[in-house]
Amino acid sequence: MTLNLSPSEIGKFVSAYRALDFIESDMKLGLGTGSTAAWLVKLLAHEVNENGLQITACATSSETTKLAERLGIKISKLDELGQLDLAIDGADEFDRNLNLIKGGGAALLQEKIVETAADKLIIITDASKQVEDLGSFDLPVEVVKFGWKTTKRLIENILEDEDVDCRVVNRRGNSSPIITDEGHYILDLKLIRIGNPHSLSNALLNIAGVVETGLFLGMTNSIIMGDSTGKASVKSGINSDWVHSLNNIQELSEFIKKINIL
Ligand code: A5P
Repeated sequence: MTLNLSPSEIGKFVSAYRALDFIESDMKLGLGTGSTAAWLVKLLAHEVNENGLQITACATSSETTKLAERLGIKISKLDELGQLDLAIDGADEFDRNLNLIKGGGAALLQEKIVETAADKLIIITDASKQVEDLGSFDLPVEVVKFGWKTTKRLIENILEDEDVDCRVVNRRGNSSPIITDEGHYILDLKLIRIGNPHSLSNALLNIAGVVETGLFLGMTNSIIMGDSTGKASVKSGINSDWVHSLNNIQELSEFIKKINIL
């Protein structure tokens, strides 16, 4: 069976598929944003529509809300659900301490609000997101529109004192800036290597015009990493070992085809 998907995309599917094992009936879920989270939403829709899974859910972006509702998953407001049992989302990078860079899809603010309101956060990724030190992926920072150039300058100033290898701040999409769901701008910090994520996070959040950063530190309970052979690896906590399981890739391929046309 030939699947018109890259190995990375199959890995994303495998991680989302394994995440289903952590979802129980009647759970209140937070649904992440991005291509990996989209697989989860498709799988969840299959469980809800075909297998009668009962869940309530809120989303971390308008994009995820649209997809979920189109597939028949009712999306509630976070404030209607209150504390969530579980949030599941993708990431742009994760390190050995399960710290993350997120926000490549510009949804970092709603993601952080939803994910800090969950008892447990599971990150689903393909293997390419694993790094030694965070920072190869540009760090998205959400800033208010008012005085954004001043905020940018202040960010550049504090980066002088931070343990990073490079200090360039770009405004995402120069010709048409990305406006977030909350009406803010995204700045992208080219840092290459972030030596001390906690220090950087605190320094950025001290700047008045900064709303949030894509550094998700100390929030992740488990990482699920999938690969194109059907292997899913789960790490639950910083000091835990990876636990591996292997799916039959032929069977999965059939299922991916079915789910992907949703
Ligand atoms: C969205 O703003 C991000 O935080 C995503 O979770 C992250 O960019 C991962 O996206 P992919 O699953 O598409 O790689």
